[in-house]
Parts: sequence; C-alpha cells; structure tokens
Amino acid sequence: MLPYPSSEISSDPAVKQEPRTHAPDKIRIVGGQELNGVIPISGAKNAALKMMCAALLTDQSLHLENMPNTLRDIDSQTELLTHLGCMISTERDLMAINAKNIHDLTAPYEIVRKMRGSILVLGPLLARFGEAKVSLPGGCAIGTRPVDLHIKGLEEMGADITLEGGYINAKAPAGGLRGAKITFPKVSVGATENLLMAATLARGETVLGNAAREPEIKDLGECLVKMGAKIDGLGTDTIRIEGIGALSGAHHKVLPDRIETGTYLVGVAMTGGSVRMQNARMEHLSAAMGLLSQTGVEIEQDGEDIIVHRNAARRLKGIDIMTDPYPGFPTDLQAQFMAMLTLADGASMVTETIFENRFMHVPELNRMGADITVQGHSAIVRGVKTLKGAEVMATDLRASVALVLAGLVAEGETVINRIYHLERGYENIAEKLRNCGAQIEKF
Ligand code: UD1
Repeated sequence: MLPYPSSEISSDPAVKQEPRTHAPDKIRIVGGQELNGVIPISGAKNAALKMMCAALLTDQSLHLENMPNTLRDIDSQTELLTHLGCMISTERDLMAINAKNIHDLTAPYEIVRKMRGSILVLGPLLARFGEAKVSLPGGCAIGTRPVDLHIKGLEEMGADITLEGGYINAKAPAGGLRGAKITFPKVSVGATENLLMAATLARGETVLGNAAREPEIKDLGECLVKMGAKIDGLGTDTIRIEGIGALSGAHHKVLPDRIETGTYLVGVAMTGGSVRMQNARMEHLSAAMGLLSQTGVEIEQDGEDIIVHRNAARRLKGIDIMTDPYPGFPTDLQAQFMAMLTLADGASMVTETIFENRFMHVPELNRMGADITVQGHSAIVRGVKTLKGAEVMATDLRASVALVLAGLVAEGETVINRIYHLERGYENIAEKLRNCGAQIEKF
C-alpha cells in the first residue's frame, strides 16, 4: 500500500494549497557566523515541476515522493494543473496527481507568467488531447528566453502551431503527433523535456539529437519509463522514444536538488565550518565540486550525504568559471560562486554562456563592497577582504540566494527585499541556515 492520501483531494485542511497571504517579504541576516550542522536537501525543483506535467500524459494517478512541496513554483504548477482539471493532493513531501478529468486545454497568462516551467504542459497536452493553448511564459528575468525550439520540435512532429495574442495555439494532426528525428540547434533543457514527454504518446519513433543531459531530464525520463514509456539513451545527447498508445500511473521519488546542494556548499565555503548535506549526490555536481576544491574547500561523499569543511582562517583561492550545459558548470550556480569569489584571493573571471542577462546580482554585490566589473558575457571579480551588510534587492531566484550567501559573511546587517524569488526555489532556507548557526530571519 502506497503511503499516499486515499482520495485524490484530501479533506484535511492542512494539506490544501493555501494562498500565501501577509507573507514576510524580507530577510534580515547578521553576518559573521560559521555554518556547522546538518542540512537536509530537498527534492529537485526542476525535476519535480516537469514530472507534474508528465501526469497529464495519463488518466491514472502519478504518485511523486520527495517533492519540494513548500516552494512557490510548485504552488504555481499546482494552480495551473488544477485549472486544467487535475486533482492534486499533497501531504508532507508526497504528491498525487490525477489528470483523468481534464476540462480545459488552455494554460492562461495569469498563471504561466509566474513561472517558465509551466510551458512544459504544452507537449503532454498536445500529445494526449491533440490540442493546447499555452501562454508564452514568464519566469526569472534572466534574458529573452524564447521557446522557438519547443515549437519547432512539435511542428516537426506534425503539429500546426500559431502564435496569437501572446498565446501558442497548437493542434496535432489527425491521428495524433508523429515520431520525428529532431536535432536541436542549441542545447535546451526545457525543449528536450517537452519533446521527450510529447514523444511518449506519438506514433512511431522520435529521436532527439543534441539533447540536454541534465540529471533532472534523466530523472523525468525514468519517471516516464515507470509510466510505461519506451525510452533509450537517457543521460546522453541522443534520446530515442518509441511512442505507445497510453501511459499508466506510477510512483517515483524525485532526485535530490543539486543546485540547492551546491548553494549550501558554497555557503560553507564562504563562512567556514562543517556541514553534512543529507540526501545529496556529488556525481551530479562534478564540474562545480572540482572548482570548489580548487578554492581550498574539502568535500567528501559519505553514503547518501555530502560533507563539506572549510577552515575559515585560510583564504579561498580565486578561480575562473564558465557556465555550460550539463555536465559543464551549471548556470544556476553562477551567482552563488560569484558571491564566494568576491572574497577569494586575486582576480577571478566568471563567464556566462547560457543566458545573456544573468549578472543582475553584480550591482547588489558591489553595494555590499564587492569589486566586480562586467565586460560582455564575463565578469572580473577582484577579491576583497570583507563584504559589508547593506539593504539589497532580490532580482531573480539564483541572484537572490547569492545575496543571502553574501549576507552570511558580511560585516553587520544585510536586508534582502523581495524574497518572493527565493521562495520559488529554496525550501525553508532561513530555517535550514539557522539550524547551522546563521542569524537569519524573515520579516
Ligand atoms: C532550465 C532551468 C533553469 C536553468 C536552465 C539552464 C527549469 C524550470 N529551469 O531552464 O533553472 O537555468 O535550464 O540549465 O528547469 N533557448 C532558446 N530557444 C528555446 C529554448 C531555449 O533559444 O526554445 C535558449 C535560452 O534562451 C537559453 C538556452 O537556450 O539561452 C538554454 O535554455 P534552456 O536550457 O531551455 O533553459 P530552461 O529550460 O528555460
């Protein structure tokens, strides 16, 4: 018997998705404390959001475990799927989704604008119902972030797609989407996932070439396989999918969040101390861990945990980093590493190759005393002796957390405004850090 609520919609008010009213929107940090203790790592947001969309591919229930259910992005996806007609129940880190009674094939602007991950309903809706209308997405303001690769791929599978009034109107050909050989001109996480899901119910074989290889995509694929999908090549740049008539329900445990793990590893690198990250996988962070070791931080895997130590008396060494699709250095850790390098010895160069506008944390870090100069896609970070607490503004998800990390080591008090962004992607961040000795509170 699975440990899930017996009915799809729980009558227990404690498990309902309550709107967040009067929530605190600032964080105050008094810097200077080492981090020591244990941090439980949550399930990966960027896998969980996509698996929720995978539930649209079947009329049976999908049961997900290790879900980061307190995140705002999960709330947004829940709101969207509920709008479409899904029945969703949650309890602690469990979620059950049933898409038997879908009554609306439109993903409206009011919900989609909150989060780019909602574009991932397009492929599943089109594959199972033959049509979908999805607003062009919003999300973090880290560049123009087009969806042309998603659209072009679905067109290659026979879909007729028009853009009108800010919406993508998609229709499958008679008989449903057709398998196709699609080679992406650019590596895209979202486009790979959308087409992977769509292809599971298409007629014939789909081959995705130059596919993204992120662990979250592999995990999504493994969830789809449990639902009955026929997929080969997960984790490589060529994924083959043999479409079948219908998928079934399944039970899947979401993999640990490598970006949350990397964020706290960088936090300890900055403050000094020793922290055990529970349920974390080093193999998903190889590029980042290699670089972190070069700065002078000690990291080891211990069973399901990662332990990180740093002697605060020794200064970190500067390093150069360049973001790249997986297995390269993740763009989602660029801002956190930059915050760390503000205090490292010498000059470091940070080059962003994935998104064109992902240096919004730079002016805020400079307000805290950092010495960073941006030149095109690169930033030169000259290490300073100390950062100073200041009032700063969260601009996007990862930029916000970079400011939290900077606040943990800055002299005096840092106040971060608009923590809305932070709550999209970090479960209980203040509590997790406070449990390791940080002085941090929401207000
Ligand atoms: C996902 C992650 C995000 C991460 C990013 C790159 C989620 C919810 N978000 O975003 O946290 O930073 O991967 O690892 O999983 N592009 C196009 N056309 C398209 C699609 C993408 O030109 O149709 C471009 C983007 O603008 C960007 C690059 O391709 O420059 C990579 O984007 P992509 O991998 O698609 O990122 P997301 O899936 O949006």
